[in-house]
Amino acid sequence: MKEQLERILEAATKQLKAASDPEKLEEMRVQYLGKKGEITSILKQMGGLSPEERPKMGQLANSIREQIETELKAKSDQIKKELAAKKLEAERIDVTLPGKEITIGRPHPLNAVLDEVEEIFLGMGFDIVDGPEVETDHYCFEALNMPRSHPARDTQDTFYINENVVLRTQTSSVQIRTMEERNPPIRIISPGRVYRSDAVDATHSPLFHQIEGLVIDKGITFGDLCGTLDMLMKKLYGKDAQIRLRPHHFPYTEPSAEVDLMCFNCGGKGCSMCKNEGYVELLGAGMVHPKVLEGCGIDPEVYSGFAFGIGLERITMGRFGINDMRLLYENDMRFLGQF
Ligand code: DAH
Repeated sequence: MKEQLERILEAATKQLKAASDPEKLEEMRVQYLGKKGEITSILKQMGGLSPEERPKMGQLANSIREQIETELKAKSDQIKKELAAKKLEAERIDVTLPGKEITIGRPHPLNAVLDEVEEIFLGMGFDIVDGPEVETDHYCFEALNMPRSHPARDTQDTFYINENVVLRTQTSSVQIRTMEERNPPIRIISPGRVYRSDAVDATHSPLFHQIEGLVIDKGITFGDLCGTLDMLMKKLYGKDAQIRLRPHHFPYTEPSAEVDLMCFNCGGKGCSMCKNEGYVELLGAGMVHPKVLEGCGIDPEVYSGFAFGIGLERITMGRFGINDMRLLYENDMRFLGQF
């Protein structure tokens, strides 16, 4: 039995020397020290020994077990150290290398201008409200005094979900929703996406953005409209900005006007940027039609108001001198990085 034990120790020591990973050590622990291990099975044979030999063999077996345990532990510590050192070596970083450049994003030009416009109107006491892009024919046209037969619908062909539900062509729908929900005084702007079945070119897109404005109170006049728009343009384009109002027709305002901005490039003389007009068209506006007020339960004898609809693309292009609307949607970083 003594020889058996000594052979086990010898074999274990040899195996340990060759071992190089934690799995192998675990295997050895089971093989030698485990419940069904070699030393345990020898201890089980102790019953067959004489009473004098039993304690001696017991002592020897225990000391060999302890020795194997100690050696296993020592080897395990050594392997762990080696692995840690290898890992450190593999993950070594050179802190003197130049870092990776992090590019910081910025708002899209449309959002940058929208943020500015919102700030300007918030400063004048307006609320910002939202409205649905999928809209009923009623809110998009009918309640704005544009019945199905109205010729003004021709210029606003859109995408029909069904006969009564459309992708809205104008944010003017939010005027109606707001007047139905709130009592005067009302002072809101409502920015958002609008849709028309237009082919894409330098000044058209089937999806674009408008900012609607609506003010309803007692004693609101056309002068308030002019003052508000003048203020907006001077804040957006600088104190020399000048607007011009041209008579126009919108079914939901009376009187109505189209509002132009004097061309920055030529100061109104006419140049290639303004197509020799001297002015660039920016938005539509007018005094809210009494029929529209009445339809929303507001008494036109007591209240009056003005409304306007601004094309966000148009004022953004004017602001940054962009000559093709498509550039705003292509998400080319070389273009967007300039603003
Ligand atoms: N909805 C018009 C359009 O899309 C713009 C507009 C004109 C809005 C006059 C208004 C307004 O609120 O009073 O062309």
